[in-house]
Amino acid sequence: MFNLIKKGFDSKNIVSFGNMFLIGNGHLGYRGTLEEYSKEQLVGLNVVGLYDQYEDKWRESINLPNPFYLKVHNYSILENEYINHEICLNIKNATFKRKTEYNDLIIYSKRFISQGEDNLLCLKYEIKARKSLNLTIDLGNDSNIYEINGPHFKEKKFELNDNTVSFYGLTNENKSIYQKSYYILPNGTVINSFKDGLMNIQLDVEQNKIYTFYCFCKINEKNCFESKKYTKKDFNNLYKEHKQIFNSKFDNSDVVISGNKKAQFAIRYSIYHLLILGNENYQTSIPARGVSGQTYKGAIFWDTEIFLLPFFTLTNPKIAKQLLMYRINTLNGALNKSKEEGYEGAFYAWESQEFGQEGCSKYNVSDPITNEPVRTYFGEKQIHISADIAYGVFQYINATDDLSILYDGGFNMILEIIKFFMSYSTNVEGKYHLKDVIGPDEYHERIDNNAFTNYMVKYISDQFIKYSSLFNVEYEMLEKIKEYSSNIYLPSINEDNLIEQFDGYYQKEDVYVDEVKKRIRHPQEYWGTENGVAYNTRVIKQADVITLLALLSSNFSKKVMKANFDFYYPYTEHGSSLSASMYSIVASMIGYSDLAYSNFIKSATIDLGVEQKMWAGGIYIGGTHPASNGGSYLSLIFGMAGLNFDDGKINLNPNLPKNIKEISFNICYKKQKYFIRVNKMNCEVKPIYD
Ligand code: IFM
Repeated sequence: MFNLIKKGFDSKNIVSFGNMFLIGNGHLGYRGTLEEYSKEQLVGLNVVGLYDQYEDKWRESINLPNPFYLKVHNYSILENEYINHEICLNIKNATFKRKTEYNDLIIYSKRFISQGEDNLLCLKYEIKARKSLNLTIDLGNDSNIYEINGPHFKEKKFELNDNTVSFYGLTNENKSIYQKSYYILPNGTVINSFKDGLMNIQLDVEQNKIYTFYCFCKINEKNCFESKKYTKKDFNNLYKEHKQIFNSKFDNSDVVISGNKKAQFAIRYSIYHLLILGNENYQTSIPARGVSGQTYKGAIFWDTEIFLLPFFTLTNPKIAKQLLMYRINTLNGALNKSKEEGYEGAFYAWESQEFGQEGCSKYNVSDPITNEPVRTYFGEKQIHISADIAYGVFQYINATDDLSILYDGGFNMILEIIKFFMSYSTNVEGKYHLKDVIGPDEYHERIDNNAFTNYMVKYISDQFIKYSSLFNVEYEMLEKIKEYSSNIYLPSINEDNLIEQFDGYYQKEDVYVDEVKKRIRHPQEYWGTENGVAYNTRVIKQADVITLLALLSSNFSKKVMKANFDFYYPYTEHGSSLSASMYSIVASMIGYSDLAYSNFIKSATIDLGVEQKMWAGGIYIGGTHPASNGGSYLSLIFGMAGLNFDDGKINLNPNLPKNIKEISFNICYKKQKYFIRVNKMNCEVKPIYD
């Protein structure tokens, strides 16, 4: 029920399985690779929030040497014939297991990143031979690090002392990293040599006896920890504790779906991926590819506030607040970016790194045919990011009543965000237009009056005014904001109930996705930018107007939702994993339950398949898809179960698809925990007192 199992070995899926079987603790991620893999198989021990730049390449989060490297000569899945092979991820225990059977030897392994002890990774690796064998084994801390834009360590030092491999690395930006990996080796092991983090050992094994290796790896930015001598017993105790903690997190956030095993596993798999991203010990936020690697430079996007935050708000408000505090703490980065771009206030980074600095490149994709970089304007024009952050704060308050976020800097941050939008606006006959922007649909760059952006700015300005009486806002500034808010230009709803995505969208060539697909020159070609195949057409990358309707649903009638859904759906490529969940939410709201279901499944199973989109032009964009996981949670809770907090209370307007009988889950609302159950007959809301 909680096991994801893949049998057999398929060299084509190594990268996808690395994502699919990922383990993490919100600060560290370890990809679902095997012990004998190295950088060619994209082994990755990724650290969130720790960035480095090599020469003039993209600045990105760093990967560390692999402490779990272990290769038994002549018994590698990459090189040798095997009889059976299976890997398993238990999503309730956050544990990865492997079993590989060769003619005369079986390998079992188990790994987890401790939930109990911070920054500790644990591995147990067992060998059982069917006859006596003389084995040669390489094991230790593999210094061949997989890096997209590296190398990130200008200095790497490995030492072996008393079964501990100590790694010291100095990044190009002069940050020190210490990693201590303590190995317990089976009796009879002879260490032949040690080089670059790896021991070469000899082990004579007897028939049918089990030989066990353990590795305990601790990571720190300061050399302030002792290399602890763990014992075999420690492994079992740490594992027990780890399971207990993760199980209880899982139960707290679980969504139970009756009558549909596929949907049940899909949502639980999504929840697993969300849970391995939260860590109360760190003030960083969640990168777009989570802890699965360096894609998108390990940076934080709007994905966090719009797609992930609600999950944490409803299941663990402490982490939700921490995610918002990251934005408050990085306000300076946004103020600087604004100044550099010639605006006032806070223009948040489209791809935000540790201090809020912009990680987005001006050439964010490349041409897969010529390899030439392609000029993109995401960082300079995707201004909705600032509104999304403020929206996140207000949504958090609506669900928690926790105004401390405003007192802890949130109110001031939103003030700066509004100042930014005011300075970005152009006054056209008394109405404030937001020109030269990019909306969620990134294929149409540098357009005017993106409906999503303008409505979101209006929403956050109104909310700011609502809370302003609690704070000392200068009278003149408040009046200015009030005037701005009442005059933001909002693309109108026409006689067909449609909202135009941006000025001139209707004039674009009226063709659907399949037609545009026929026009591409290369399967990895990027469809956006002025020269891209989608630009002159109505084809859009991802939900745009539909995202607006999903996020501000109480402002729009069902008629408007239906008309826009029918209109935009065939034009949407779903070229981003952020798209399907928004369509699913709106589909539920208008009674399109089949589409709500299919889009939910698409969003929730994104990392369960092996066909993910891995390229944007010539740039690798693979990894896990937290926003899609978060979005699938939203599709169920706000879409199918119809949860909303309008009028300051819990409301449920369920719209269950025919293949889902019942959904039940817990939420935390205004500091009280509730159990919620919806089925075709009734809705139940019951307070839980722990
Ligand atoms: O934030 C998204 C964006 O909307 C589409 N491209 C990928 C980004 C990161 O997930």
